[in-house]
Amino acid sequence: MPLYLDPEELRYQAPGPHLDLIGAMAFRAAGAAQRLGIFEALTAGPSSAAELAARTGTDPGTLPVLLDGLVGFGYLDRGARGTYANSPMTANSLDRRDPWSYAPALAFWHDLLGELWDGLEETVRTGRPQADFYTWLEGRPRTLRDFQTMLDGMAAGMAPLIAETAPDPGERLLDVGGGHARHSVALCQVHPRLTATVVDLPGAIEGGRTRVEEAGLGDRVTLVPGDVTTADLGTGHDTALLFNVCHGFDAAANRALLGRVAAALRPGGTLLVLETFADLPEGTSPVAEAFLRSFSLNLAVTQGGRLHSFADVAGWLAEAGFEHLERRGLDGPDELLVARLAGAVRTTGEGR
Ligand SMILES: C[S@@+](CC[C@H](N)C(=O)[O-])C[C@H]1O[C@@H](n2cnc3c(N)ncnc32)[C@H](O)[C@@H]1O
Repeated sequence: MPLYLDPEELRYQAPGPHLDLIGAMAFRAAGAAQRLGIFEALTAGPSSAAELAARTGTDPGTLPVLLDGLVGFGYLDRGARGTYANSPMTANSLDRRDPWSYAPALAFWHDLLGELWDGLEETVRTGRPQADFYTWLEGRPRTLRDFQTMLDGMAAGMAPLIAETAPDPGERLLDVGGGHARHSVALCQVHPRLTATVVDLPGAIEGGRTRVEEAGLGDRVTLVPGDVTTADLGTGHDTALLFNVCHGFDAAANRALLGRVAAALRPGGTLLVLETFADLPEGTSPVAEAFLRSFSLNLAVTQGGRLHSFADVAGWLAEAGFEHLERRGLDGPDELLVARLAGAVRTTGEGR
């Protein structure tokens, strides 16, 4: 919510909890407006409340209360003759036609917080999550689509960079929880002899199919719907990707999963783990840190995960038989952990 407060006001007039209260209501109002199609309807231009109510199937008596709130929260502006218009912030960040739009993220988080954060105290008391996040998601096609679009957008910027800088993946790649397939596609584009197998839940694999077809890589990227904790991951892969998956699991589940991934690699094979670790890199901005701590709490309440420390992940990797661990910083708080499975002598030039 774009509330601009001078430092004096921040210190004396607006204690943090009060701002948080307004922020919570602004978030809920913006999420509701988005789900009701208000911002989308206003992309065509300013509109009166009555016209908007007719176009969005909402109550003409109540809609103005929401619209006035959204003006206060900075999502809408008032136009001429009592009309409403999307504010520049909304036009720039919530238009779904824009590939970098924040709209899928707002919609996804709105549904998630609204439905799964009710039992936060219970989770903290018992240590148990309130839901099985991915089962919840598979039952909500619209939220699942927003989630996958959000992940796809985040990976779109990062995949080419990782593909260029990662160690040579050899010829057979296993992408564990690789859903949208952005990373497998990018690596195949850089390494012409590489073939990839992406294993993910059925709803996630659908998005991957689109990416693979777009890239014309249907003959080199195989998409396998399945649960990575039980599915056959194959054997003899040269490289495995475990990108943003560990944070969804607790320590025991990560140990088990890393054991399965180790069994799927050839001796001396490479594992690349992409994660944001709880010990954030120096220079992480306060806004990024605030979001990441909230994200970790979200993982705890919705799926029993969290942002794990680098030391914890490194320990599980060592237990699973990995060695030569290397921690590579990327742009921002994401980091790439490169590990080799024991069992083969490293040859000169194998790593970069
Ligand atoms: C945070 S996303 C990361 C996606 C992708 N690897 C990336 O870095 O952009 C986690 C992915 O793991 C998948 N996933 C989580 N639990 C899974 C399970 N038990 N079996 C298969 N896939 C799973 C999700 O569907 C999702 O696509």
